[in-house]
Amino acid sequence: MAAARRKTRDSFVEPAAFRSAMRELAAGVTIVTSGVGLHRRGLTATAVCSLSVEPPTLLACINREAECHRVILEHGMFCVNVLGAAGEALAARFAGRDGVRGAERFLHGDWGTLTTGAPVLGNAVAAFDCSLLEVLDGGTHSICIGRVEAVAVGASQPALVYRAGLFAHVHPAGAVASRTESKAQETP
Ligand SMILES: Cc1cc2nc3c(=O)[nH]c(=O)nc-3n(C[C@H](O)[C@H](O)[C@H](O)COP(=O)(O)O)c2cc1C
Repeated sequence: MAAARRKTRDSFVEPAAFRSAMRELAAGVTIVTSGVGLHRRGLTATAVCSLSVEPPTLLACINREAECHRVILEHGMFCVNVLGAAGEALAARFAGRDGVRGAERFLHGDWGTLTTGAPVLGNAVAAFDCSLLEVLDGGTHSICIGRVEAVAVGASQPALVYRAGLFAHVHPAGAVASRTESKAQETP
């Protein structure tokens, strides 16, 4: 499936200024995967977003230069694996930070499949297994729209968040809030 390229008006904002400002946007961290066996590829991605509930769809913005981009288009499927704090080392690996490339990135981690055959991480906090519905031109990136064919929800763990070049672990505030709530009810 080839993405149609669209010519857009030049922007006055320098790429470096755009990148620098976007670094302030804290985001949940995922590994987007595609392919089978030795053809498996994956990359760390924060540009992932829910699109529609019925039908269940999501989008992932994937750099055209990333190896996984080609594989997603070839195989017509991908999986968005949402990482928790335990996935920080894998996030660094799938971002290319330790120099490991291609299918070797899958040597660590408990990888399986759901419906489409795309690699699903066993200890992901959630996984969205998608068939590729549409590919839109996003300049340097393609906007890959996936129809969610299967979901998996893993054990709860602190969230993995990325901001300003650093990973952070976010502990759910809900537990604290509910403790405060029940305490308030006990107060006469
Ligand atoms: C926290 C973080 C988030 C990233 N988010 C994206 C993203 O949403 N889309 C993307 O194409 N690349 C993203 N990248 C960059 C890719 O993970 C990185 O370029 C990766 O090495 C590409 O895979 P390749 O080396 O197999 O081409 C991100 C990197 C980091 C560290």
